[in-house]
Amino acid sequence: MAPPDREETPVRVTLVAETRPGERRVALTPEVVAPLVEQGHEVSVESGAGAAALCADEDYRETGAQVLPAGDDALLAGADIVAHVRPLLPDQIARLRRGAVTVGFVTGPGELDGIRALRGCGTTALAMELVPRISRAQSMDALTSQALVAGYRCALEAAMRLPRFFPLFMTAAGTVRPAKVLVLGAGVAGLQAIATAKRLGAVVEAYDVRPSSADEVKSMGATFLDLGLDAIEGTGGYAREQSEDRAARQQEALTPYISKADALITTAAVPGRPAPRLVTRAMLAGMPAGAVVVDLAAESGGNVEGARPGETLDVDGVTLHGMADPASAMPVDASRLYAKNVTNLLALGLSAEGWSLDLADEVLDGVCIVHEGTVRHAPTAALLEEEG
Ligand code: NAI
Repeated sequence: MAPPDREETPVRVTLVAETRPGERRVALTPEVVAPLVEQGHEVSVESGAGAAALCADEDYRETGAQVLPAGDDALLAGADIVAHVRPLLPDQIARLRRGAVTVGFVTGPGELDGIRALRGCGTTALAMELVPRISRAQSMDALTSQALVAGYRCALEAAMRLPRFFPLFMTAAGTVRPAKVLVLGAGVAGLQAIATAKRLGAVVEAYDVRPSSADEVKSMGATFLDLGLDAIEGTGGYAREQSEDRAARQQEALTPYISKADALITTAAVPGRPAPRLVTRAMLAGMPAGAVVVDLAAESGGNVEGARPGETLDVDGVTLHGMADPASAMPVDASRLYAKNVTNLLALGLSAEGWSLDLADEVLDGVCIVHEGTVRHAPTAALLEEEG
């Protein structure tokens, strides 16, 4: 898109309210809207968009943004750029003008209709989940910022549900031993769960398939479990899917550690694949009475057999909690971080001169999933092809 003339056509940025049930985050906070307005852009906010994240309409007005009634046609039809958190719905996309740019999460199970709509409407979509993991893009990495919130939240869920203390207590009435916490998967969320459980005083052990995770776990003050298995690492610092045989050997090697854990937190993921199954029902049955298991991967199939997102189950005396949309449970800070990620990304193309999308830029090239109606992200294009 040619940069609009600053004097005559400022860039019109719209912040929409999230529509998915339970979603409490907001894509732009007043803190990041203020510099956009100062740069000369026209920011429109859907009334109530930030309410659940404690960003009132009045706070946006004070930055110089205009607040429009919920559902007002001008919000989408008049936007050059639309900021959102969860994928826009097809009927929202249908109201965008050709050439509009959307920025937010785009992909996920069941979201192909939205991508088809983006393609059909000639829009350009920047997918926050596709920010490349290079140092220049760290300030735009929403997967990392939201995983940090999720990992923190997992440790709190485990602590709140465990019928005993996390820390050691030495009191006149006796000594209380600290809880043993085991964290499986030591990526961004797992490391934050470890840090939070440590701060609460638990004794923490952790395991991950990536060799580099051992030092990161140790730097958090936790013990890395060496299971004597081959390490597996894919591209971009992510894990690869393991073979059935290795998965079985990992389960067997983890069983004695799981049987001693008061709390087990699972955060393992493999990009583009269902969550790896790390813990079977039989392994749960071997845990101490009253033990708690928190599965962050419940929404993508579960690391733990039987885990269901948003549900807390009693499995043979063990409390099994499946996390659902954990970042949304802490909408204030999750939104603050996400909003910074979004505006740092937009700053690659948005300036006082207007908006321009330079697809020669490695970051913009990576995030631009749909460009003026063409799906550029090969795995997504292949999925659309498969589904017809
Ligand atoms: P993720 O959410 O895809 O996966 C979580 C963790 O599960 C990973 O550490 C993975 O190795 C682990 N895992 C997968 N299969 C497993 C299994 N069978 N058993 C145990 N653990 C298993 O990953 P996340 O948290 O997004 O980060 C992955 C890597 O990317 C890390 O090395 C992290 O340091 C790196 N990273 C780099 C960034 C950058 O350079 N800007 C930003 C954020 C993360």
